[in-house]
Parts: sequence; C-alpha cells; structure tokens
Amino acid sequence: MTDQAEWEGRVGRTWAAEWQRTDRSFAALTERLLGAATDATFAQALDIGCGAGEVSLALARANPGAQVIGVDVSDELLTAARVRGADLPNLAFELGDAARWTRTGFVPDLLVSRHGVMFFPEPAAAFAHLADVAAADARLIFTCFRDPSENAWASGLAALLPPGLGAPPPPGEPGPFAFADKAYVERILTEAGWRDVTFEAVDFPYVAGTGDDPVEDALSYFLVIGPAARAAAQMEEHERAAFIERLRGFLRDHLENGRVAPQAGAWLVTARAPAR
Ligand SMILES: C[S@@+](CC[C@H](N)C(=O)[O-])C[C@H]1O[C@@H](n2cnc3c(N)ncnc32)[C@H](O)[C@@H]1O
Repeated sequence: MTDQAEWEGRVGRTWAAEWQRTDRSFAALTERLLGAATDATFAQALDIGCGAGEVSLALARANPGAQVIGVDVSDELLTAARVRGADLPNLAFELGDAARWTRTGFVPDLLVSRHGVMFFPEPAAAFAHLADVAAADARLIFTCFRDPSENAWASGLAALLPPGLGAPPPPGEPGPFAFADKAYVERILTEAGWRDVTFEAVDFPYVAGTGDDPVEDALSYFLVIGPAARAAAQMEEHERAAFIERLRGFLRDHLENGRVAPQAGAWLVTARAPAR
C-alpha cells in the first residue's frame, strides 16, 4: 500500500525527481482526462493530489480566465509544480490534505484528479468534504487504475516477483489499485453526496521507456517508481539481481516501435456535486 505519510516523504520525493517520466507514462490518459474536464467551461478548478502539476498547468494555460489550484501533501512535488507553473498568474499550488483543505472564496465548479484520490485513509469522509467545498452541481472528474488483471504492466510485474512479495493489498486499502472496483467507488461517492456517477474504461499505453535504449530507460523507471521498485527494495541482493534480469526480459518483450509501453487500464470517473 502507499499511504499519505509515504507521499509526504519518500514516495513524494521520488515522484518529484521523476515527474517527466510519470507525465510521459500517463500521456494518453491525460489527454482523455483533460478532454472530459474541458468539455464545459469552469471558473474555479481544484486539482486533487496534483503532484508535479501537469493537469493543473494544462487547465490554467488553456483557461486564462479561470482560477486553478492544485493541492497536494508532498512539499517536494509542489516545489516541482511551482517551478513549472511560475509563469501562470491564474494558478496556485497549496500544501494540504485534500480531505480537509479549504480556501475562503474558492468554490470550485470543477474538481479533477489524475490518480490522486486513491490514498485517503477515509475516502467517504474525504469525498464528503470535497462535496462540501464544491459549488452546487460542480463536476468531479478523476482517473484511477482498474484491477491489476486489467493492467498488463502491473500483472506482468507481479508475475516476476518471488513468492510472498508484491501481493495485492486488500481491496479498498489506500494505494494505486484502491479504486479498481467500480461498485466500491460508486458506493463511496454516493454516500459522500455525489450523484450521476459514471465510469468509462480507458485503456492506454503506459509508456515506461523511450529514447536510445527504451528497455534500460523502462528498467530504471520501474526500479524507482511503483510496485516493482517497492518489491525490489525488500529483496536480498541475489534475489534482486535475478529479479532485475526477469524484469529486463519482460520489458524487452514489450518493446515495440522504439518504446516500451505495456497496456494499462483506468477508470475515467465523473460525478456531480449536490444541487443544494
Ligand atoms: C499517483 S500520484 C498522482 C500525482 C498527480 N496527480 C499526477 O498525475 O502526476 C498521487 C498524488 O496524490 C497525493 N496525495 C496523496 N494523499 C493526498 C491527500 N490526502 N491530499 C492531497 N494529496 C494527496 C500524493 O502526494 C501524490 O502527489
């Protein structure tokens, strides 16, 4: 599992150093998320768990008349985001737990998140708070991973791990797959007051490696970010070396047209805040 404390520290630090590669890995999904978000106009947008800020930046750049705030618990990710957004007067990044964060005068009519909503220890309470701070009828649009079995990158990596390592966390536990079960997500959102909940399954290439040596690029990426990195850190030296060889072979099998991009599967979830 990845929890909030890890994002505040070690995991946030790694993601801050790797934002170019994480943005690259999500590129096709980002396009879908932004397409849905900009389907209608908005005045104030909140990016939940904004990380290094790509979604906030894109929304602020394309909508100079709107105000955009990205909120995250990782200081280091926000430092990266602020550097990237320094030229945008309509964009701010704030440190805070989105499950509690408020700002006087900021009543978002659009709430977005690219994979930033699966880490709340009490998700129903967090989404109830977000419904409270949102404008009446505000649009909520976020992405999250579907089940590992629908993510070739994740199930492929899991199959390479020694027994006992990398077992999927129990359903609902904070982490990248916490929102894989759409019935669970629908229940949380409905309990929290959101309505008209919809799910669209989006498959996209999870671009892990490009450039002169896409396999080594992907290998170094997976060894610092995500479940393979977490499992590798827990291995004995000899076990780790053998795992890295298996991982290299897996990535080589996914090398196509100059890039390593195993399939990934996400939900694009939309909902409406209460009418009041
Ligand atoms: C998978 S990353 C996604 C980051 C970013 N949205 C992106 O797409 O690059 C999850 C993000 O959620 C943030 N996060 C986790 N728990 C949070 C909370 N309670 N409030 C705000 N942000 C949180 C993490 O620090 C991290 O930046």
